[in-house]
Formats: sequence, C-alpha cells, structure tokens
Amino acid sequence: MAETVEIPDRMMAVAITEPGGPRVLRAERRQTPKPGTGEILIRVKAAGVNRPDVQQRKGLYAPPPGASDLPGLEVSGEVVAAGEGVSRWRSGDQVCALTAGGGYAEYVAVHESNALPIPPGFTFTEAAAIPETYFTVWHNLFQRGGLQKGETALIHGGSSGIGTTAIQLASALGATVITTAGSAEKCAACVRLGADRAVNYREEDFVEAVKQVTDGKGANVILDMVGGDYVARNYHAAAIEGRIVQIATQGGAVASTDFARLMVKRLVHTGSTMRPRTIQVKGEIAAALEANVWPLLAVRRVAPVMDMIFPLKEAWRAHERMEEGEHIGKIVLDVA
Ligand SMILES: NC(=O)c1ccc[n+]([C@@H]2O[C@H](COP(=O)([O-])OP(=O)(O)OC[C@H]3O[C@@H](n4cnc5c(N)ncnc54)[C@H](OP(=O)(O)O)[C@@H]3O)[C@@H](O)[C@H]2O)c1
Repeated sequence: MAETVEIPDRMMAVAITEPGGPRVLRAERRQTPKPGTGEILIRVKAAGVNRPDVQQRKGLYAPPPGASDLPGLEVSGEVVAAGEGVSRWRSGDQVCALTAGGGYAEYVAVHESNALPIPPGFTFTEAAAIPETYFTVWHNLFQRGGLQKGETALIHGGSSGIGTTAIQLASALGATVITTAGSAEKCAACVRLGADRAVNYREEDFVEAVKQVTDGKGANVILDMVGGDYVARNYHAAAIEGRIVQIATQGGAVASTDFARLMVKRLVHTGSTMRPRTIQVKGEIAAALEANVWPLLAVRRVAPVMDMIFPLKEAWRAHERMEEGEHIGKIVLDVA
C-alpha cells in the first residue's frame, strides 16, 4: 500500500438486533473487519439500501454462509488497507463495491474484483447506489435474458431501484422499453428515464399494453420481481422465443400457469439471486460492467436515480421509507 492509514479496532455499524420492524436496526460497536487474501478494506462513505435488506431484517433472507450478519449489499468509500495478493487497488483509491453483507458499517472488506472505480464526477452517495442494481440488472436482463438492441423489454417494478436501472440500461443499449409501476407519478418518472410506455398496473392490463406496443408480437425479455399471478400473464405478454427472468416473487413464490403456452412460444423462464453467487462470478460481472456500462456512467447517459439519503444511525428511517413504497429509485445511507 502507498500510505498507512490508522484503522480503529472497533467501528460503528447498524445491526439487526432481532427479526422485526425497522426499529430492530440499531447502532452498535463491532470489530473492524480485516482484509483477507485478495480483499481490500474500504472506509465506507455511503451504503445503498435494497429490498433484500428489508427481507433480511424481517428474518426472511438469511446471509449466505461466511457473510457478515450486518445488512448492506453495496457501498462506496476509500480503500484503506489491502490483504495479500491485492494488485489493482491502493490506499486512497475511491471505489464502489458489491458486498455479500456488512455494508451498514464504517468499514467493510470485499474481494478486490468486486470493487469498481467511482465513475468520474459521481458523489459517494450516488456511487453507493450503483453496484447492487447494476450487477443484478446486467446479469439478469442482458446475460441471462440476452436482451439485444432492437428487441422489446418488459420491466416490472419500473420505479424501484432495480427498475430505474433496468429502464435506463435497456433504453441506452437500444431496446424498446415497456414498464409497470403503481401510480401515475411513478409511471411519469419511468418515461423520463427512457421507458417508451409505462403501464399503471393498478388501472391497466400490462398484457394488453405490450400487445399494443409490439403490434401483437409480445416482449422479447421480461424482467419480473413480482411472480404470483404475473407468471401466467408474463407468458401471455412474451414474444415467440421470449425470455422471462425472475428476480423476486413479491406477489407469491407459488404460481399456476399454462405450460402449453411456454412450449408453443418456446419460452425460456429462468431466474437468479445475486447475493450467494461466488466472488469469481461477481468479479466477471464487474468486469463486464466496467467494459460496457462504466462508459455510459462516465457521460451520465445512465445514473442512479436518487430518492432519499439518511444518516447510517437512522437506517431504520430508510427502511421505513422503503416499506412505505413511495420512493422512486434508490435510498442511501450516509456513513461519512
Ligand atoms: N435476484 C436478485 O439478485 C435481486 C437483487 C436485488 C434485488 N432483487 C429484488 O428486486 C426487487 C426490487 O428491489 P429494489 O431494491 O429495487 O426494491 P424497491 O425499490 O423497494 O422496489 C420494489 C418494487 O416492487 C414493486 N412491487 C412490489 N410488490 C408488487 C406487486 N405485488 N405487484 C407489482 N409490483 C410490486 C413495487 O412497485 P410499486 O411501488 O409500483 O407498487 C416496487 O417498484 C425486490 O423484490 C428485490 O428483492 C433481486
């Protein structure tokens, strides 16, 4: 490392004291992590808040084996130490990173391959809002879903952190974007981000809207975080050879559907969860993002949509905000 930075033995973190409501999130002192082989220690400046953190707080989404029990799947900050074998980063480098947990803290250790440079001109709070949704959207919409320029994507939950990223990336890479959201205000925000058509799912049937926009052909790729009765409706909305990628099941994990439609249309229905993927897979996704998406961030062709920022100690307020469901885009914790 180029410089030596004093690192305290103990740090402030926000922990889940027991499964429950937002108030179970409490500040406490924890041991500062030490970077292992290939890992960097980041002095966290900001941490992103994601729906999986809420699920973890409720006791519905356990950290994968070996991961921190602290919530927090993404951070930005400065590199302050490095473990053996780290080659890319030096003390003082400003990075954003995907973590398998532990982001709601003053320090976090991550594998160096899961960190990326903060795009030029981005603040720490903006940078902390990038990793979780960009890794998830890149992998699911483009790598699994195979979305191509000129195709049509149906993105459910368009105003979510994930949705706002998916709309921008799909649009920037030349796809037609149809999205769903639960209010006129959210739909308007989605159109401003590049959606060609935003469907208020409380008032309108997205299957009909997709048929209208695509002259009856259907959507080539569907990114779905709802599941439940959306599964059957997605099969209706999909084009021949369509790809449906499940990233959550907020409307129900069990569904009944007509598989004949899947066969006749030759659909592919797949899905994934990012958090338990290996360091290596996440490193490969990071490299693909740096090559394909970092140039778009550098010129702000795409950028995280910032909803609200709360101090780390008030993480419970950030969770309340997320559970109220009024947010558009990303909620972030200021750790500095
Ligand atoms: N698989 C993965 O690797 C992965 C990674 C990260 C996140 N996720 C998942 O992706 C989803 C979005 O995450 P986020 O952090 O961006 O959360 P978020 O901002 O809180 O967004 C949640 C979204 O879900 C929509 N929604 C919830 N229930 C719905 C329902 N029954 N019908 C239609 N829409 C519904 C909401 O839409 P309205 O407000 O318009 O109703 C909202 O836009 C979460 O479910 C999260 O668990 C998956």
